[in-house]
Amino acid sequence: MGTAFQIRDLRFRYPSSAGDTIKGISFDVREGEIFGLLGPSGAGKSTTQKILVRLLENYQGSISYFGQDLRAMGHSYYEEIGVGFEMPVHFTKLTALENMEFFAGFYRSRADIQELMERVGLWEYRDRKVGEFSKGMKVRLNFVRAMLNSPRVLFLDEVTNGLDPANARIIKDMIAEYRDRGGTVFLSTHLMNDVEQLCDRVAFCVDGQLVETSTPRDLKLKYGRREVKVEYRENGALASAVFPLDGIGFNQEFQNLLQNREVETIHSGETSMEEIFIIVTGVKLNGQAE
Ligand SMILES: Nc1ncnc2c1ncn2[C@@H]1O[C@H](COP(=O)(O)OP(=O)(O)OP(=O)(O)O)[C@@H](O)[C@H]1O
Ligand SMILES: [Mg+2]
Repeated sequence: MGTAFQIRDLRFRYPSSAGDTIKGISFDVREGEIFGLLGPSGAGKSTTQKILVRLLENYQGSISYFGQDLRAMGHSYYEEIGVGFEMPVHFTKLTALENMEFFAGFYRSRADIQELMERVGLWEYRDRKVGEFSKGMKVRLNFVRAMLNSPRVLFLDEVTNGLDPANARIIKDMIAEYRDRGGTVFLSTHLMNDVEQLCDRVAFCVDGQLVETSTPRDLKLKYGRREVKVEYRENGALASAVFPLDGIGFNQEFQNLLQNREVETIHSGETSMEEIFIIVTGVKLNGQAE
């Protein structure tokens, strides 16, 4: 698998702002992976996506797309990417299907609109005006719009925001299937559920800089508490004890507990991505905790 994007020392300043919003970030997005850009509100996730989809120009540093300078790419670039914006934009006076047909008209390559709309549960509402759609329906339609041209790379900004768990699951399954068929996904989010279920690699962005790039698994190993918590009954009441995971097989106290008590639960103290998010984004760039 090749490299979809190679981003080196990317800097960007909005014309109206005094300082840089993106302060020199470097990362690769590999072909066929789901890459998650995470970080607190205002960190620069959407700005980074807007630069990568060429909505914002005048950046410094370099971005290459499958080995080609992004600045030199012609209109063909838009044929290759699918974009889900943070705020769904549709024509409210047109029906859902009219909207999708309108946007599909820009592309040479077309996905099956009916299949996509059926999958997200919107086909039966295709003749309704989007202005009458609920928020979740607009979000799902926004995802269909991103998939309309069967893109090679999919950009998704907060794609499941505002969806109920069942609908969020459908979208996540579709994203994973897209990746499994060889698609590349650049996803920005602050929903750690999405990250755990989807992302192959993640980068944490804080105040326009990247503080950590890794896999969710390695992050858990790095920041996880290596301990085991045992809940057991003692004289009828619930009691608990925590043991270090290292050397647990030789821990006599742990063995005694297992042999002599009525154990109710045993959990390894795995740190959730939510906790990792708070740890990582609270760490200053010099490595000192705030
Ligand atoms: N058009 C603009 N002009 C000037 N400043 C902007 C503009 N758009 C965004 N910014 C600023 O750039 C910074 C990064 O914004 P951005 O939208 O990229 O953050 P984000 O990480 O996507 O946040 P969120 O999680 O809230 O979506 C913020 O300080 C924001 O105020
Ligand atoms: Mg954003």
